[in-house]
Amino acid sequence: MSDQIILRLDGQDYPLPLEQGAENERAIDISSLRADTGLITLDSGYANTGSCRSAITFVDGEQGILRYRGIPIEQFTQHPNFIEVAWLLIFGSLPNRQEYDGFAGDLTAHANLDEGMKLHFEGFPRNAPPMAILSAMINALSCFYPELLELDDTSRFRLAAARLISKIRTIAAYAYRHSQGDAYNYPNPRLAYVSNLLHMMFSHPYQERECDPLVREALNLLFILHADHEQNCSTSTVRIVGSSKANLFASCAAGVCALWGPLHGGANIEVLRMLERIHNGHMTPEDYVQQAKDKTNDARLMGFGHRVYKNRDPRAEILGRQAEKLLAYMGQDDPLLNIARKLEEIALEDPYFKQRNLYPNVDFYSGIIMRAVGIPTNMFTVMFAIGRLPGWIAHWWEQNQRGQNRIARPRQIYDGNTITDYVPMDERG
Ligand code: CMC
Repeated sequence: MSDQIILRLDGQDYPLPLEQGAENERAIDISSLRADTGLITLDSGYANTGSCRSAITFVDGEQGILRYRGIPIEQFTQHPNFIEVAWLLIFGSLPNRQEYDGFAGDLTAHANLDEGMKLHFEGFPRNAPPMAILSAMINALSCFYPELLELDDTSRFRLAAARLISKIRTIAAYAYRHSQGDAYNYPNPRLAYVSNLLHMMFSHPYQERECDPLVREALNLLFILHADHEQNCSTSTVRIVGSSKANLFASCAAGVCALWGPLHGGANIEVLRMLERIHNGHMTPEDYVQQAKDKTNDARLMGFGHRVYKNRDPRAEILGRQAEKLLAYMGQDDPLLNIARKLEEIALEDPYFKQRNLYPNVDFYSGIIMRAVGIPTNMFTVMFAIGRLPGWIAHWWEQNQRGQNRIARPRQIYDGNTITDYVPMDERG
């Protein structure tokens, strides 16, 4: 098999090396293209561009495969433990008992926010978007830990990672409490990650929110399934920001902003809104699918389609099953789950969706689970961010450690005015 391809331009041949990954995926290395030929590539949405080499997550969109550090995602469903997966993604292998206990201990020790941060929450309007608060407060964290702005050794990085993974949950809970006008609940060191989040969000004086084991399992699983997805929009953002040598907090705060958009993490809110609109009788599932196919309006079947998955998204399948299991256990019959199943059934039979390989994605069923647990809709994308944070941290660190931090700086094809004279104000039309 050839290890290069030849680009022929103006009668001259330019050999371009081929790169191969661990799973035989192939790429043309064009790093010398412009220097050699004066050409750049144009690739809208970077759909054909590999931005880096990475050993964290493998996705095969044609086959519906997702693996973290080589481990198939399905293998985390038996005893889902988000903290274990966070360690795996960031540090490269499953933690042994000592590593696990040490990391879990760090998470417990660093769950509290500096009291000064409460003042920041107070300054936000009650109806502030929680993703705006989350991003702002992750950035604000950097002011409280100046010693973690430069992470040149693994132990300091580990502390920064633990602080972020622990505190993002406290920030999320405080954002919610502030929106409700409720007092903040301090983290309870006796509670594990997910139970503590629910406690901080929902406990009231003399009314402790307890976390049922199946709820704990469902949320651990939900966080795990969101934990990384290689070079998605928010992770690429984290890498791009980090490539300027911006610190971990700033880079992750930028990741939150990228995740916020409705085509990315914000889709989980839009899915719920879509299901509610159908449930409230504004339209039938058939009407909605029809509308999503209509190119004259912007509506899309939210929670459907993916840049990489062209067959099935394994995360959606797992979450769909988990939603059924959780609702059955809770004795709930959520009509929105039935509507989601109906939409899926119609879309999967419809030539429009079939031809374009559009399948349910991770956001299609996640909202049903969060709703069953009592998470308010406007906090859904925040929950996604909590799950995705270990992935962002892992990518930021990998880029840093591999010396892949040549500043990200794409080129463009300029299509504006050619040289144009400046016109003084009183001579302009
Ligand atoms: N409903 C209707 N049509 C769709 C949908 C959809 N959900 N998704 C894609 N299409 C159509 C699109 O209009 C285009 O049609 P045509 O070829 O006729 O112009 C074709 O399918 C290809 O779509 P695309 O927009 O070029 O695909 P993309 O890879 O650029 O976008 C996507 C991927 C996920 C942004 C898109 O499928 C979408 O907008 N889905 C709905 C939003 C959503 O669920 N986002 C969550 C993504 S998964 C988790 C995450 O990343 O956060």
